[in-house]
Amino acid sequence: MTETADGTGTASGPTATLGFDPYDPDFLADPYRHYRRLAEAGPATRGEGGPLVVTSNRACAAVLRDPRFGRGGDAAVMRDEDRTVNRSRRSFLVMDPPDHTRLRGLVGKAFTPRMVERLRPRVADLVDELLDAAMEKGEVDLVEALAYPLPVTVISELLGVPAGDWPRFRGWVDDLAAGLDPDFLQPPERIRRRERSRAEFCAYLLDLFARRRADPGDDLISALLAVEESGDALSEDELLSTCVLLIVAGHETTISLIGNAVLALLRHPAELAALREGAVTVGTALDELLRYDAPVQSTVRVALEPADVGGTAVAEGELVMLMLGAANRDPAVFADPDRLDLGRDARRHLAFGLGIHFCLGAPLARLEAEAALKRLAGRAPALALATGPDGLRYKDRLVLRGLAELPVRLR
Ligand code: HEM
Repeated sequence: MTETADGTGTASGPTATLGFDPYDPDFLADPYRHYRRLAEAGPATRGEGGPLVVTSNRACAAVLRDPRFGRGGDAAVMRDEDRTVNRSRRSFLVMDPPDHTRLRGLVGKAFTPRMVERLRPRVADLVDELLDAAMEKGEVDLVEALAYPLPVTVISELLGVPAGDWPRFRGWVDDLAAGLDPDFLQPPERIRRRERSRAEFCAYLLDLFARRRADPGDDLISALLAVEESGDALSEDELLSTCVLLIVAGHETTISLIGNAVLALLRHPAELAALREGAVTVGTALDELLRYDAPVQSTVRVALEPADVGGTAVAEGELVMLMLGAANRDPAVFADPDRLDLGRDARRHLAFGLGIHFCLGAPLARLEAEAALKRLAGRAPALALATGPDGLRYKDRLVLRGLAELPVRLR
């Protein structure tokens, strides 16, 4: 137990270890107020028996670029049994060099910016099709109508996952996305569900690999199966963990980005008008929207050797939680950080990370979100929230912050 920041009592559970409770509805509604309180105590704070929690932009960026910090296979945030059984969990997201370098290089050969650019017309058509249906209804849950189906369709087509199979993997992906939170924060049932879903998802993917091997297509899974460089190729386990990563990272994040961004615009009508009238480019606006309410709120690193973070010494093996959402609201880097200002230069946000793990899918996420925001703003001049502030519900996750639904009126 520890004193609460406001001095009104003692805290336990996550509040004692982190300084906040990530699943408290009050935190989910506005984590930034809680981060600000933490940041007042310094660039990095340490709770009882918890990790070092880093809120400053400079300190987060320094750790992300520092080879003295790595992911270490994420063993530091896993339960004991998962450390041995969960080989397929170890995607290159949680690997360190040289394994990370090798795998990211192999995947990068198949997942190229050119491949993403080729998707531009398809993404534009998809957005228009989804908006046609939504406009006809007049009032919709924008998560269901646009934010979910757009990225899920794009990543499925990119990877070559048959359209008819989408409903099957929705539940698996949802459990895996929730399961990205550090294990020490999650209820045991949620971890068990994640592991069940991972096993079912992997069995499904193995079957799909067999079909693609026998009959390759013009898709990323076929390309990954064929990728080979100097005699090096992806093993079956590597292929599995990479596909799981691409599918989970490839749409859960973008769903949140579209939902969070549209909500921010609806709460700031003058900024929405500036976007609609072309007073700001959609690319500049998107950086500010990523900064303002980031879909990925935190990540972890472990010290591979003794180091320091923002003036605090860190021992070898110690876990560090980098609060990217807090770093994006750091007044030392962004003036008046709680104000949404689409015209500002927000490029120092850490929404896509930094360093060797910088998001591989950033160009795809941008392509999709820019198309969605531009067409939505242009086609729905009467766009408005169809619920009061109490009607908004967030998914109970720390790492991937996103709305469970976003009721809007389109006309
Ligand atoms: C708004 C959308 C997205 C956001 C905010 C986002 C955010 C991030 C962040 C913060 C990281 C770094 C994590 C860390 O350093 O620990 C990351 C890594 C990654 N992202 Fe994204 N992402 C998005 C969309 C996508 C998409 C669409 C894909 C793929 C189709 C993707 C694939 C990846 C992969 C493969 C990595 C691991 C890179 C590595 O470890 O080298 N992401 N993403």
